[in-house]
Amino acid sequence: MSNRTFTMIKPDAVENGHIGAILEKINAAGFKIVAMKLTKLSKERAEKFYQVHSERPFYGELVAFMSRGPIVAAILEKENAVEEFRTLIGSTNPADADEGTIRNLYATSMGENAVHGSDSDENASIEGVFHFSKEEILS
Ligand code: CMP
Repeated sequence: MSNRTFTMIKPDAVENGHIGAILEKINAAGFKIVAMKLTKLSKERAEKFYQVHSERPFYGELVAFMSRGPIVAAILEKENAVEEFRTLIGSTNPADADEGTIRNLYATSMGENAVHGSDSDENASIEGVFHFSKEEILS
């Protein structure tokens, strides 16, 4: 899925009413939305999605947070999408996120950091397939 990345607007940002503002930033930055849904992760699905972090001390907290309410999952397209999107969202810890980035504007803490962005083309593809069927992704 070259030139594509996967994102989630996380439960904190949905609860705080930031879906529209975040999508606006994504559009303004030139990303095309090729798949999108409002959904909710079960505890089991959140555990599976974050399996790579299962040994980390924050895993339980992360799974509880990501399964506590609705999320918006989306696949985005733009040249160099993974890197461009990570620039748009800013550092994992909002305290370190550059001014004007999505996490600078909408995240509240390291754990509840408003949005997810894939960290590689390979993970973008894996994460996109985790959330969407072939029919739900525009070609
Ligand atoms: P993200 O990069 O989207 O996916 C992994 C998530 O783990 C990360 O966002 C944070 O929400 C969370 N995370 C990473 N480091 C910590 C930490 N030290 N404490 C709590 N949560 C963390």
